Amino acid sequence: MTDTDVHKGLAGIVADRTAVSKVNPDTNSLLYRGYPVQQLAAGLSVEAVALLLWSGELPSTQELAEFEEFERSHRGLDPKVREAVDLLPADCHPMDVGRTAVSVMGANDPHAQTSDPAAELQKAKKLFAAFPAVLAYDQRRRRGQDPVAPRDDLDYAQNVLWMTFGEEAAAEVVNAFRVSMVLYAEHSFNASTFTARVVTSTLSDLHSAVTAAIGALKGPLHGGANEAVMHTFAEIGIRPGETREEAAARSREWMENALAEKRKVMGFGHRVYKRGDSRVPTMKESLDAMVEHYGRHELMGLYEGLESAMDEATGIKPNLDYPAGPTYHLMGFDTEMFTPLFIASRIMGWTAHIMEQRADNTLIRPLSEYSGPDERSL
Ligand code: SDX
Repeated sequence: MTDTDVHKGLAGIVADRTAVSKVNPDTNSLLYRGYPVQQLAAGLSVEAVALLLWSGELPSTQELAEFEEFERSHRGLDPKVREAVDLLPADCHPMDVGRTAVSVMGANDPHAQTSDPAAELQKAKKLFAAFPAVLAYDQRRRRGQDPVAPRDDLDYAQNVLWMTFGEEAAAEVVNAFRVSMVLYAEHSFNASTFTARVVTSTLSDLHSAVTAAIGALKGPLHGGANEAVMHTFAEIGIRPGETREEAAARSREWMENALAEKRKVMGFGHRVYKRGDSRVPTMKESLDAMVEHYGRHELMGLYEGLESAMDEATGIKPNLDYPAGPTYHLMGFDTEMFTPLFIASRIMGWTAHIMEQRADNTLIRPLSEYSGPDERSL
């Protein structure tokens, strides 16, 4: 075996087939079960997208109504999960809270070790419904606020905002949040999804696979980038009331310096997309709507300055995390909660892949090229 046979990071390697989604860098497109994600984001509820990813088809009115009823009755924060979260330091990273909560849910699920398709789908639905209460509770406990009980008269997107902020969000805020949940839901064999498939390939259980995926998503080269984007904005300095032009000038200078120092700037670049992330235009529309809604044009200035400076210097384009970060900031989420929001959405994709892997499984176990000492005797 020669060096050329080693594909570090499995870059460019096709590891398996999937029917869940198609990421096409040539056409810069993303299909969920054949449907362009832009069309789904334009009008489908998060609940309907979840059913599409799990079943492969859009739900009937009846199927959607039944799932909505199920989801609304499984939103509460399990006292056992709350107890476990309360044992964690209030200043630990919220991704550790998310990872722990899923692990506790698995340990308490009577069907955790049951892996027939119906049981797996039921666990996926329960995880999808139950996770938002964890992130809402975690943000509130860090702020010294009491938890807010879910409301079953609100849809999924409305209820996440209700549990987190204790008030009904404006329609345009709910819509921007819904769009972000649809766009974050699924993206073929990204690092966290592939992690979930590796764990599933050993015939381990769904909660173990999702817990492992959360560990992978936490990294700033992956899901943690949306949080890192906000740290970049904070480092540059967010000055409400500053003009868009003044903010853009400051962020351009910051980017030029960062690139001169050979820094990796989170929110830009992608392993698969090389001419821009297909989801960014749609997410950017939601960011524009939030900038207008909250009157925070200086934030758009920072955004535009960084993007243009990076493009001029390297041609590297933003990925989904770049517009998502400031959107969540404007909605009022604490920066450390951005990647837990990514968990809430990617539970749909992870569980769809877990079920697909299990349905046609082969243990995932690649080779390696040995570069250690030649054989020698003690
Ligand atoms: C997500 O895979 C998915 O689908 C993931 C995701 C999903 O939905 O699941 O889309 C979500 O994770 C989006 C990506 C979020 N990550 C970040 O924003 C982190 C910053 N991005 C980079 O670390 C990087 O672009 C990666 C990791 C995303 C992809 O990197 P690659 O494909 O391994 O390419 P690379 O790092 O080798 O970069 C190629 C060149 C390098 O220059 P050289 O060292 O060869 O001179 O481009 C440069 C890099 O330095 N480069 C960057 C850069 N991204 C690439 N330079 C500065 N800042 C960046 N962000």
